[in-house]
Amino acid sequence: MTDPAMRDTANQWAIETRGMSRRFGDFVAVDQLDLCIPYKTIYGFLGPNGCGKSTSMRLITGLLTPSAGDIRVLGMEIPAQAELLRRRLGYMTQKFSLYDDLTVQENLRFMAQIYNLDSRSVKQLIDSQLSRYQLNERKTRLAGSLSGGQRQRLALAAATLHQPELLILDEPTSAVDPENRRDFWEKLFDLCDGGTTILVSTHYMDEAERCHGLAIMESGVKRADGAPAQLMRELGARVVEIDGENLRLLKQQLGELPEVVSTAQQGTHLRVLIKESIEDPERWLREVHPQLVHDRQIHAVRPSLEDVFVHCTGSHASSGGARQ
Ligand SMILES: Nc1ncnc2c1ncn2[C@@H]1O[C@H](COP(=O)(O)OP(=O)(O)O)[C@@H](O)[C@H]1O
Ligand SMILES: [Mg+2]
Repeated sequence: MTDPAMRDTANQWAIETRGMSRRFGDFVAVDQLDLCIPYKTIYGFLGPNGCGKSTSMRLITGLLTPSAGDIRVLGMEIPAQAELLRRRLGYMTQKFSLYDDLTVQENLRFMAQIYNLDSRSVKQLIDSQLSRYQLNERKTRLAGSLSGGQRQRLALAAATLHQPELLILDEPTSAVDPENRRDFWEKLFDLCDGGTTILVSTHYMDEAERCHGLAIMESGVKRADGAPAQLMRELGARVVEIDGENLRLLKQQLGELPEVVSTAQQGTHLRVLIKESIEDPERWLREVHPQLVHDRQIHAVRPSLEDVFVHCTGSHASSGGARQ
């Protein structure tokens, strides 16, 4: 451990990284990532494909060596102590990582062997996972024949069979319908309630909003970090919705104003992010640009996580909205 700041926080955080970076050749996939993730919480990585979520997770598990920076997980130095971490960690990779040609039960037995679990307690452990994850009736089915939701439940049952303290889930619900996603998240909250720390990546806003804490990532860089409610409160921009006809034209006209951060049509209204320096966006629009909005309704609305995401990524990031 070279970072002196990390010496004083030995057991405060489940995951702590300082300046964590990873290059592939000249390409920087993860760029000086600082993370402090508390125990027994669900922490999310939110960001588009290629922003460095999976690479960051591999660095945290010790499967990949950082190009620079310090990493401590459950009090252990990573990657030096990665072997010790392995038993205390459950990791669901982005691709379905079980065996399609083994049954549900066989997959779990195989997992028990990998983790070298005590054979006397394995049957009981597997039975309890099968019932906890509603897989009892399908235990003799081949994993390859399961639906998306069932496969994810099996993957979660396998990843938690050895009762890990830390669970890392890489886009676990990307192939799952909304109902099964909701159900999956209930299971995550049950695990968290039981004391498990969970790191999960997603590109779904609704999932990100469920996390206790969140890093918004772009091009390997953390653009914002905090509780979703806090990020929304501290957006640094004001949001209005504008109703009326010809929203496509209005979107184009508003987009040309330097005070307008972004515009997005949502059904019959336009959602507009306006720089915080404009204290009363409705008055500003009516007084400064009356020709654009004269017969339209304008409502100030509460920011959403998507607003935060839009504001701190892309070309808007340089306009002062990004927080480190
Ligand atoms: N082993 C590798 N070699 C070269 N480039 C890689 C490798 N792994 C990841 N990358 C690149 O690093 C970037 C981040 O990838 P990744 O962490 O998988 O992003 P995400 O999980 O957010 O989609 C991508 O541009 C990807 O192509
Ligand atoms: Mg990924």
